[in-house]
Amino acid sequence: MALSTGTKNIKTAVFISGKGSNLKSLIKFSKLKKSPISIEIIISNNPKSKGLTFGKIYKIRKKIFNFDKHIKAEKEILKLLKKRKINLICLAGFMKILSKSFIQSFKGQILNIHPSLLPKYKGLNTHERAIDNKDSYSGCTVHFVSSKLDSGKIIDQKKVRIYKKDTLRTLANKVLAEEHKLYPEAILKIFSL
Ligand code: GAR
Repeated sequence: MALSTGTKNIKTAVFISGKGSNLKSLIKFSKLKKSPISIEIIISNNPKSKGLTFGKIYKIRKKIFNFDKHIKAEKEILKLLKKRKINLICLAGFMKILSKSFIQSFKGQILNIHPSLLPKYKGLNTHERAIDNKDSYSGCTVHFVSSKLDSGKIIDQKKVRIYKKDTLRTLANKVLAEEHKLYPEAILKIFSL
């Protein structure tokens, strides 16, 4: 399956693990006329994920999978996504690493948002590393997911200035505010190609 352009109804699954603020921004975006996506399902590995409440608020189906049994969870998710005819996956603060075979089954159809200016700071604790290294800028990246962690083709990025007075918290908040704009913009960019 390849991403088809020009479609106005890209059936999308959003994967979350935590707060879900990016999920919320994607839901709001999906309701705009210019949006090519409709969010059909929210998937989480974490029953305590606060973002799951957006499923209730916006009446979107949600499903939790136990990733202690990783292979079983992925098999069940794949089955569900095929059944729902999902053709785009947006990882939005999803903190589990998907297997190569899962990524292969949705090749070119999985996006991720990462809180750094990739290829800098793949993995965790990105804000801490940017501050420790006294970087002048950080930011966020939306990229296609490949089998190498945080290494797929970059779709778009937003930069954020780091000031001396910035703390982990202020930097994380500034970057997150940019993430909420970047994810919809990156989706528009892909589908207008
Ligand atoms: C976001 O900053 C996102 O970029 C990051 O987790 C946060 C989720 O916030 N993702 C990763 O670190 C993935 N490696 P949210 O739950 O409020 O959208």
